[in-house]
Amino acid sequence: MTAPPTATTRDGTEQAVRTPALSLRGARVSFGERTLWEGLDLDVAPGEFVAVLGPNGSGKTTLVRVLLGLLPLSAGEVRIAGRPPHRGSPSIGYIPQQKALDPDLPLRGRDLVGLGLDGHRPGLGLRGRRGRRERVDAALAAVGGTEYANAPVGRLSGGEQQRLRVAQALVGDPDVLLCDEPLLSLDLSHQRTVTRLIDERRRAADTAVLFVTHEINPVLPLVDRILYLVDGRFRIGPPSEVMTSEVLSELYRTDIDVLNVRGRLVVVGAESYGEHCHEEAPQ
Ligand SMILES: Nc1ncnc2c1ncn2[C@@H]1O[C@H](COP(=O)(O)OP(=O)(O)OP(=O)(O)O)[C@@H](O)[C@H]1O
Ligand SMILES: [Mg+2]
Repeated sequence: MTAPPTATTRDGTEQAVRTPALSLRGARVSFGERTLWEGLDLDVAPGEFVAVLGPNGSGKTTLVRVLLGLLPLSAGEVRIAGRPPHRGSPSIGYIPQQKALDPDLPLRGRDLVGLGLDGHRPGLGLRGRRGRRERVDAALAAVGGTEYANAPVGRLSGGEQQRLRVAQALVGDPDVLLCDEPLLSLDLSHQRTVTRLIDERRRAADTAVLFVTHEINPVLPLVDRILYLVDGRFRIGPPSEVMTSEVLSELYRTDIDVLNVRGRLVVVGAESYGEHCHEEAPQ
């Protein structure tokens, strides 16, 4: 067997070069005259956890849509495991920005999870194949959802529904996990369950995680790098380089203070920062 190619990293050690789980080069998205972001270069390695932060409308969900192959770039290149993304790719697990499910939706918990195996590819799925039920059961068990597996999903609580969405995203054994504000409206204990499951997955299977969030603290211990988008400007780097008063003041073009209070980040800004503040109740 030939040895994989190696590269010398900044600290001088040699490491095998792995194809990035996802990669953006000179990426731009514009809607008409309006450019959301441009010149975006980002490689996410297998097993890496990247948090995407930024105010409402900065283009976080749009980035997720590009990676899902639902929206073409206006310029530049996007690759998932070296290939252009396409709708319904089984190598991507996706937790959509949360919407409450219709109380009368005629789906059981296990049906919702099963959509992660064949929902995007009707007719081509694993329906009826051996192992399907076992995989759905295992995904349900992993999120603690076994007891409501057969309940109508619309009647479940927001936290229970969100656990099922996590199971749906993981059941297909993804190489890339795209999570769009998966903690929204979850209480602290459910936030912990969801972040723990995602972290376990990337450690066990080297799944790359792109995690859109307004609250950095619940995921701060897991985050390798942050992509922070504000009004077309962005910074990419480890939390210690991005979550600073200087960088956020530059991005928001107003004075922002980032305080570290016992390991939690409190972002205090001018009025205009208001709704994007990461301040939270203590855990
Ligand atoms: N297909 C489209 N055509 C025109 N404008 C669009 C389209 N899709 C998104 N936009 C606009 O692009 C901007 C970014 O939207 P996006 O949903 O990516 O923001 P976001 O960062 O996810 O915000 P939030 O924090 O509110 O979820 C918004 O102003 C939105 O209206
Ligand atoms: Mg969004």
